[in-house]
Amino acid sequence: MSIKEEIETLKREFLSACENARNLKDYEDLRVKYLSRSGKVAALFKLMGQLSQEERPQAGKSLQELRAEIQVKVDELIQSGEMKKAAKPMMDPTLPGRASNMGGLHPITRLEQEIITIFLRMGFSVERGPEVESTFYNFDQLNTPLWHPARDKTDTFYLRKDLVLRTETSPIQVRVMERKAPPVRFIAPGRVYRNDKPDASHSPMFNQVEGLYVDSRVTFTELKGTLLEFYRAFLGADTKIRFRPHYFPFTEPSAEVDVSCVFCSGKRCRVCKNSGWMEMGGSGMVHPNVFRAVNKVRGDEAYDPEKVSGFAFGLGIDRLAMNLFGIDDIRMLYENDLRMLRQLA
Ligand code: DAH
Repeated sequence: MSIKEEIETLKREFLSACENARNLKDYEDLRVKYLSRSGKVAALFKLMGQLSQEERPQAGKSLQELRAEIQVKVDELIQSGEMKKAAKPMMDPTLPGRASNMGGLHPITRLEQEIITIFLRMGFSVERGPEVESTFYNFDQLNTPLWHPARDKTDTFYLRKDLVLRTETSPIQVRVMERKAPPVRFIAPGRVYRNDKPDASHSPMFNQVEGLYVDSRVTFTELKGTLLEFYRAFLGADTKIRFRPHYFPFTEPSAEVDVSCVFCSGKRCRVCKNSGWMEMGGSGMVHPNVFRAVNKVRGDEAYDPEKVSGFAFGLGIDRLAMNLFGIDDIRMLYENDLRMLRQLA
């Protein structure tokens, strides 16, 4: 084969190799195969030595043209290959989508919302108060005597001598009355804190819903009627309630409130520990000293104990949640274990 034929053959071979090359790697292989120092074009240059003086210039020219042609083509291919690679989309639209997880409300939040809905229907509004509370509002303004055990450091989280994590939602009663003249009628849900070692029935943080209604001539009868109405709406139309005399510093008279067991309707079962009743919280008629303390801060007689009266109540919702949802350890409410929360969502 003459050198001229060899050049023609290599050119054809190169062009068909180009047709078969698909990607950047193929194109780079072409460069190595044809243009490198041990490549096919270089091999033909080596044959030049065997040519006669007359043949050599023409052959050299043809070979240089071939090399330039191949160089241009390979450069082109490599450039197009790199562009294709860069333009490759980051997202693969053929992949299946990722499922998103639906969130849910915590069981305590759900109960709180149900309670709010019922009381709104009965004409109560909703108030909130701070969780870091002064001893002034948490104790003094609520007629809590200095000897009261709730003031003890072993019972209450003190941040400072005069600052605590509120032990109850009751201080909100005073805060609202200071701001608003009677009549007031609201509930106030929120977290409260007590220095209790956590165990199955104790958590250092739990939830209460406070209630207060003050107007001229509010009576104990209305307290009973309001709570009965509430519990019937909340727990079922055949729910019964009972009041047991008790002591709270900020109410007189005071009573603890029980409701008939939601599981056995009072027939006695394991949940109510065979009593037929479940303890819900405290209540009573607002103590005149609380009104007096409010007036002192207000600087008026808006809450004159001779002219206004009111009832208050506070119910704990954690124990209720445990009973309703069949949870036998209060800590489960606060561990955020999704296996448990999902069942109640
Ligand atoms: N604050 C009381 C407690 O945490 C509950 C309570 C009792 C609230 C009587 C009241 C009330 O408003 O009138 O034990």
